[in-house]
Order: sequence, then C-alpha cells, then structure tokens
Amino acid sequence: MRNRIAVLHGVNLDALDRRPAEHYGGLSLARLEVKIEQFAKPLGLEPRFFQSNHEGEYVEELHKSRDYADALLLNPGAWTHYAWAIRDAVEIAALPAVEVHLSDIANREPFRRVSVLEDVVVARVSGQGIDGYRVALEHAKAAL
Ligand code: DQA
Repeated sequence: MRNRIAVLHGVNLDALDRRPAEHYGGLSLARLEVKIEQFAKPLGLEPRFFQSNHEGEYVEELHKSRDYADALLLNPGAWTHYAWAIRDAVEIAALPAVEVHLSDIANREPFRRVSVLEDVVVARVSGQGIDGYRVALEHAKAAL
C-alpha cells in the first residue's frame, strides 16, 4: 500500500514555539507532529518525521526518502526562498511532493514570495496554520 509520507521540517522549525505566534501559532514542533498524526490517521496515511537545521542533512534525507516513503510533505522554512540545492534534491527524490507553510508566505516580506520548490511540487498550502497540514496530506494522498 502506498501510504507512507515523509514529513520533512526544515530550518528553525524545531524552535516553532519560540517564533512569532501571529505567524506560527505558538505551538511546539512536538505538538504539531501529534496533530499531523491525527490528520493522517483517517486518511490512512503513515507519516514519518524528520527535522534539521543543516541544509546538507536535509538534502541527504531527501535522497534517502525514496527508500521509505511514497510521498513528501515539505516545510523547509526559510530554505524555501533560496536553497536551490533542496529544489534539486526534491527533483532527485522523484516522489509526489507537497509544500506546506504555516504562515501566508505570499503576504509577508517580499523575500518570502519566492519558492524554489515551485516547479517540483504537486501543491502548495500556505497561510492555513496547523490545518494546512491536513490539507497538504489530502493533496499528498490524491497524488499517490
Ligand atoms: C515558513 C515560512 C518561511 O518563510 C519561514 O522562514 C519559516 C516557516 C512557514 O511555515 O510559514 O521558517 O515555512
């Protein structure tokens, strides 16, 4: 059964509960992962979590992801806006990938309007807070 989702959190996501609550909701990464588990269950999806503050580690996890996942759910944090090596690693993974952001990246500072993932993801969900992860999982399921 193709239901395994690699949920890859990027830079600074480990400190989510110390970041501006108006953008990120004030919840911890551990609590976010519990919510993702809860969203995944009725969809029949099995999430596996990873977080890194090191771009190379994130790239290496993307390389490995084909061995254990059927789809990718990606919030690379600020790397989204400039880390072209991550864009290329998503292409190498060659799995359906969904981009998700807690905040509305289209309506914040101009530098957040660019996403390097644009042409390698099947969908982007932005500005829907925690619920955006449920929507992103639905997109991933549809792409499987
Ligand atoms: C983010 C948005 C990015 O611009 C920011 O750098 C993050 C989190 C989000 O989930 O809204 O770290 O990806």
